[in-house]
Amino acid sequence: MARECIAALDLGTTKTVVLIGEMTDAGLRILGEGTCRSQGLRRGVPVNMDEAARSIAETIQVAEQAAEARISEVYVGCSGDHIESVNSRGVVAISSDGGRGVTRKDVARAFDSATALRIPMDRQVIHVLAQDYIVDDQCGIRDPCGMSGVRLEVLVHIVTGAITSLRNVRNCIMQSGIQVREIVLDSLAASQAVLTSDEKELGVVLLDLGGGTTNIALFQDGSIRHSSVIPAGGINLTNDIAIGLRTPHEDAERIKRHYASAVYVRSERDNMIEVPGVGGRESRMVTREELAFVVGPRIKELLVLARETIRNSGFEHLVRTGIVITGGGALMPGIAKLTEQVFGMSAKIGAPEEVHGLADDGNAPLYATGVGLLRHAADSSSGKKWHHDTEGGWLDRVRSRIVAML
Ligand SMILES: Nc1ncnc2c1ncn2[C@@H]1O[C@H](COP(=O)(O)OP(=O)(O)OP(=O)(O)O)[C@@H](O)[C@H]1O
Ligand SMILES: [Mg+2]
Repeated sequence: MARECIAALDLGTTKTVVLIGEMTDAGLRILGEGTCRSQGLRRGVPVNMDEAARSIAETIQVAEQAAEARISEVYVGCSGDHIESVNSRGVVAISSDGGRGVTRKDVARAFDSATALRIPMDRQVIHVLAQDYIVDDQCGIRDPCGMSGVRLEVLVHIVTGAITSLRNVRNCIMQSGIQVREIVLDSLAASQAVLTSDEKELGVVLLDLGGGTTNIALFQDGSIRHSSVIPAGGINLTNDIAIGLRTPHEDAERIKRHYASAVYVRSERDNMIEVPGVGGRESRMVTREELAFVVGPRIKELLVLARETIRNSGFEHLVRTGIVITGGGALMPGIAKLTEQVFGMSAKIGAPEEVHGLADDGNAPLYATGVGLLRHAADSSSGKKWHHDTEGGWLDRVRSRIVAML
C-alpha cells in the first residue's frame, strides 16, 4: 500500500525547504528533505517567476528523491511585507428555534459579523482564527455550540495578504505540477513546531528571525492575539558587514555565521578574523571586537523594532512566559541574552522537538516553519481546524469569491 505522505514548502527569503513526512504512532517522521538556496524570490514573494519556479521544482525533486516518494500537493508558508493582521469582534442574537442553544449557524453569523469589515479587493483572507467566544456575559468559551443564551460574541484574528503576491506564489508552485493545499502564515506554522500549549496558554511571543523578515506571533489563553511581519532580517546584518568591513557579500555571510555574536565577549583566542577585500584588494585582519561594533547595533535595532511592535499591539502585558526565538537568527551566539536585555523578559531558543528523521545538528531552528507546516497538515488531515469557521461560513464564501477572481 502506498504511504500517505504530507508535504511542506517553506519559501524563505534565503532558502527554500521542502519536507516530506508522515504521521506514525510515534509522532511525526520526516521521510525526505530538500533545501536549496532561494532564487527569484524576495521576502517570500516571486520577483522572477521562471527562476522561482525552477528553484521550487528543484527543491521538490531533491526531497522526493530523499523520501523515495512522489507528492501531489503541499502546504505552503507565507510571509512578506504584504501580510497584514487585525483583530475584530462580531455579535449576534442567538436564534431561539428549537431551544437547542447556540447552533453552527449562529456561529457562522457571528463570524460574518466579525469579518464584515471592508477588505480591499486586492487582498485575500489567509486566516480567520477564533480567539474567544462569549455567550451573554460568560467569556473564555472554546466551543459555544449547544450553550444556552441570548447573545453570542466572537473575537477573531484575521490575516490577509496581497492577492497578486499570493497568486504568483501559487503559480510558481503549480508550474511544478504540484497543487497548493493551503497557504499558512509562517509564524503560525513555526509556532506549531516550537511552542508548547502551556506557553500559548500563559502568554508567549514567537520571534522568527529569518533572512529577509522577522515574524512575530503573540499567544495567550491558547489563542493568537497579535501577528506581524517586520521586513528586515539576517540579510540586513550581512549587508552591514559587507559595507562595514568592505568585503564581498559571500564573505560577509561566512564571517557572520562563523564569528559574529549578538553580545560581545572578549576572547584572546581566535580573536583575529581574515577579511577578504573587494575586487581583488588584499585581505585585512580585523578583531572580533570590530565585527561586534558592526553587527551588535543592527541586531539590537531589529530587536527594539520587534519590541515596539509588540508594545504597540497592546498585548505586551499578556506575555507571561517570555520570548521564544527561532529561524536562522536563532543560531547566532548570544541572541537569547540580547533579547532578554532588550525586552526585559526571559528568552530562549525554540527548535522543533520530537521529530524523527530531522538532523540533530544544531540547525533545527531553520526548520521550524517546515516542521510546523507538516504538523498543521497532519492536524488538518485528522480533522482539526484552525479557522474555527463552519462549512458554508464566511471564510468559504470569501474563498470562493477569490477563487473566482483568480
Ligand atoms: N550561525 C548563524 N549565525 C548567524 N546568522 C545565521 C546563522 N546561520 C544562519 N543565519 C542567518 O539566518 C538567516 C536565514 O534564516 P532563515 O533560514 O530562517 O530565513 P528564511 O526562511 O530564508 O527567510 P525569511 O523567513 O525571512 O523569508 C540568514 O540571514 C542567515 O545568514
Ligand atoms: Mg523563514
